[in-house]
Parts: sequence; C-alpha cells; structure tokens
Amino acid sequence: MAQIIDGKKISQEIKDELREKVGVLKMAGKEATLAVIQVGDDPASGVYVNNKKKACSYIGIRSLSYELPKETTEEELLALIETLNRDERVSGILVQLPLPMQIDEDKIIMAISPKKDVDGFHPENVGRLVIGERGFVSCTPAGIIQLLKRSGIEIAGKNCVVVGRSNIVGKPMALLMLRENATVTVAHSKTQNLKELCRQADILIVAIGKPQFITGEYIKEGAVVIDVGIHRAENGEGGTSKKLCGDVCFDQAEPLASAITPVPGGVGPMTIAMLMNNCVEAMQSES
Ligand code: GUN
Repeated sequence: MAQIIDGKKISQEIKDELREKVGVLKMAGKEATLAVIQVGDDPASGVYVNNKKKACSYIGIRSLSYELPKETTEEELLALIETLNRDERVSGILVQLPLPMQIDEDKIIMAISPKKDVDGFHPENVGRLVIGERGFVSCTPAGIIQLLKRSGIEIAGKNCVVVGRSNIVGKPMALLMLRENATVTVAHSKTQNLKELCRQADILIVAIGKPQFITGEYIKEGAVVIDVGIHRAENGEGGTSKKLCGDVCFDQAEPLASAITPVPGGVGPMTIAMLMNNCVEAMQSES
C-alpha cells in the first residue's frame, strides 16, 4: 500500500502558515497586493483566476482584478503591465496564460518586472534558478518539492526522472531536483526506451499532458510517483463523466509505488499555495 500524498492537506498547511505570517506583517504596516490580469473569457482560465483571488482573500493578500476583452492588443497589455510595474502598492503581477493569438506571451512575460514576477516565468528568475540564486520559482514545481519534503521523502542521491520538458513544469522541476541533490534525467517525446528509463526512477515526476499514459510497466517497485497531469476522463459510455484523472494510471501505479499523488488532490492544490508564498515573498523583499 502506497502512502497517498495529500496535496489538499499540505497546501492548506502552507496557506495557514502564510495567513499567520501576513497577519503579523499587517500589524507592522506591510500589505501584499497581487494584480491578476485575464485577457478574454476562457472558462478554464476564469476558474483558475477565481481560485487565485479566493486564496488571496483567505490569506489576507489584496487582489486587484483586471479583466480585459479578448480583442486587447499587445500594446495595451504592455502599457498596463508598465503601469503596474511602477505602482509601489503592487507587489506581484500575474498574467493568466494562455493569451489570445495576437499577443506574444514571451514578450508579456519579459515585460513583467522580475521583482513582481510571482509566477517565476521571467528569464531573470529562470536564470537565477539555474545558477542557484534566490528568485521566484515556477509554482507547480516548487509545490512538488514541498509535497516531497513535507511527506518525509528524501531527495538527495535519488534517481529522479522528470517526464516532460515544458518551461513551466519540466525544466524548472529538473533544476529544483538537482538543487536538492537528486540525480536527474529529463525525458520527453523523443526519448527512446521511455519505459526502461522510468523504471530506473526512485522518484518519477510526470508532466506530459496525456491521460493515464504511465501504466504499471513504467514504475519500479517502491518508487515515489508524482502526477502533474489533470484530465477529465471519458466514462467510456458515449458521454463524459466528471471523473478526473492524471498522466499516471493510478490504479496500476498505486500498488507498486511507495508513495503517490492522487488526481485530484495531489499536485493541483499546491500550485496556488506556492503562488501565495511567492506573493508574500514579493512583499517582503520590497525595500
Ligand atoms: N495558466 C496555466 N497555469 C498557469 C500558471 O501557473 N500561471 C499563469 N500565469 N497562467 C497559467
């Protein structure tokens, strides 16, 4: 029986710690403000943005909401970011992705002041992570490190395989595991013998965006399995059920693993908790 890593519980612990910290800082006259920008009306983005604003309110962070129409031009968005960069009351800026076609995401990410880049997407913060300097770290991979540490899982010296190489999850995840002294391999769509490679992992972190791709055959007995994927599974009867699943086939992986994250309730809730952590850090590092 694997230990089920409870992301809901751990994220709540982190949010409660932050809430207390924010309360103390407030008494010293310090307040964090997160500017949240959403362009267009993508329903999934709407849900994420709402959850982020709710978490702010729980912790005691002020959130400013900017809901822009889908026709917004790149220049208009850049102008708003510039205003927020200059606004001393704003400690963090979050631009919800994806953005509409007419807007270059990389350009937007680079326009956010690295000191307010609570998503950890700016090249300066990514560079800081590479060379081991302090900076904002992408929230999902930072949350996975917290899941491992707070579940008592040792990282140093372990063979870690990260499946997926996105800028938001795979690459920063590999760098963070390296910082924790794991031996890290990054696998991707062109990797050969993926199954054999994964079977060598003591810690297997999967972020490929393919529902239940990782079956039992990919998992070494006793491995720790972290599933970043989230998909709405088909119920196989012509309709769609509400059941969510990850990139890992949980029913096959759980009997083999020593510890595993469920979907939902594993990695998912950690992303927002770490975003809140970054917001508090952004406020604390203000001069
Ligand atoms: N879209 C999906 N995930 C994220 C995230 O972590 N940050 C932002 N800004 N947009 C996203």
